[in-house]
Amino acid sequence: MSRIYEALQKAELDRKLDRSERSDAPESHIPVPSTAQAAVAEYEAPVALPIEPETRREPVVAAAPRRSAGPLDLNGIPRRAWTPSYQQLPALMERGAAVEQFRSLRSRIHELRDISPLKSILVSSGLPQEGKSFIATNLAISLARHKNSKVLLIDGDMRRYTLHQLLGCDSHPGLAEYLGGKANMVEVMQRAEETKDMDKMRHTVLPNLTFIAGGNGGDKAADLSGNPRFGELIRDASPYFDWIIVDSSPVIPVSDAVNLARSCDGVLLVARGGETKYQVAQRAQSELKASNILGFVLNAVEHQPHVGTYYGYDVENE
Ligand SMILES: Nc1ncnc2c1ncn2[C@@H]1O[C@H](COP(=O)(O)OP(=O)(O)OP(=O)(O)O)[C@@H](O)[C@H]1O
Ligand SMILES: [Mg+2]
Repeated sequence: MSRIYEALQKAELDRKLDRSERSDAPESHIPVPSTAQAAVAEYEAPVALPIEPETRREPVVAAAPRRSAGPLDLNGIPRRAWTPSYQQLPALMERGAAVEQFRSLRSRIHELRDISPLKSILVSSGLPQEGKSFIATNLAISLARHKNSKVLLIDGDMRRYTLHQLLGCDSHPGLAEYLGGKANMVEVMQRAEETKDMDKMRHTVLPNLTFIAGGNGGDKAADLSGNPRFGELIRDASPYFDWIIVDSSPVIPVSDAVNLARSCDGVLLVARGGETKYQVAQRAQSELKASNILGFVLNAVEHQPHVGTYYGYDVENE
């Protein structure tokens, strides 16, 4: 992780040098709080001031009575029509640079699991639009490609849930309905309906993927994210999946992801190449300091080497 930080710091320094070389005018420095404030305004949510772990408030929403779902039968999960967007899910392609990049990320995660127990991973970042949903969904697909691994993908952004758009499926009922006690775990899970015209990749990968959409948390999202039912969901689902990947909202404007992260084994932070400022990455890390931060993913970096085509990996090799 420190290498990524150094890289971010170096990129920031290079940008500054580049700017000062181009002009003698003083550099226009946008401090982190302004960027964060802009994002807060966009979310129309109150500023979530950092809360020290020992002073965190108890969740406002009382836990709904627990309905035991009994042993989970993956084949009993409702199947729905999915039409995934290949454009936004390059990890679904047979091969290519993106497939290779997600395979590398997957390998790093497998290595981390060799060191300490790791199954549930929350994906977050400091600010909106840094690529959290893109990374979370493609990582889930890449993990599901590997040795038939069973993956649960959860859209934990109950304000701007978008994963159902990437997968081309329904957004309700979802996590918000589960956390609000309106539905049980199996009722909010969905799997892809198998159709005759499914291509090879969808036929191989999608059956390994189970999805929980965001549902509609609206202005209750913050309270819902603090509901202990999320921890129960992770605990109850864990025995049935090899991996649980949770997408989330940005941590600087709102605290939902910090709440959800407490129930996950690790957190993967996303920084967008050429856009995320070092201070933003640092602040995101600080907001999540009570969690096990696995590292940063530097997203949308240009000039990636095209090793995939050289080695010619495809789904059979995984
Ligand atoms: N590596 C990438 N290559 C191409 N497009 C990308 C990449 N990463 C993200 N995008 C695109 O950038 C946009 C924002 O990405 P995404 O929705 O994943 O961000 P986010 O951090 O989840 O945003 P929000 O905080 O609003 O939920 C999307 O249109 C997505 O398809
Ligand atoms: Mg998102």
